[in-house]
Amino acid sequence: MTPDYPLLARQLEALLDTRDWLTNSAQACAFLMQELPDLNWVGFYLQRQPEMLSLGPFQGKPACHPIPFTKGVCGTAARTRETQRVADVHAVADHIACDADSRAELVVPIVANDRLWGVLDLDSPRQARFGEADQAGIERLVAVFIEKTDLE
Ligand code: SME
Repeated sequence: MTPDYPLLARQLEALLDTRDWLTNSAQACAFLMQELPDLNWVGFYLQRQPEMLSLGPFQGKPACHPIPFTKGVCGTAARTRETQRVADVHAVADHIACDADSRAELVVPIVANDRLWGVLDLDSPRQARFGEADQAGIERLVAVFIEKTDLE
């Protein structure tokens, strides 16, 4: 069953009350891991130097760092500024395997003032875990994060 994304968006709006990117991104990871079923990793990668993603707050196993814009599903999302939804990461040659359990992946770019601030990466052990409704719902949650946070 698709989660109630409008309700989750309202709950996230209430939770993110600091405007601080570090606190808000840590809270957002914990919230998503708690509320969305079948995830093994959720986290932020930040662009802190040109064309490179640095690992930010996350929940899950220790992960890959750094990720250049030229590599992996996260790099593609950062480079194209388009959400990447992958049903089976084993079928993607470019995928960077951090946790062997990961099977499906959704990466949403985070753009503020026309600058790529970072990406939100969600991994699932279940193949085809993320459908169109999940993509739209999670993009809405990222929009809430952007709205409620001062992004540097
Ligand atoms: N799988 C990602 C790398 C990040 S981890 O999944 C946490 C990728 O291919 O970009």
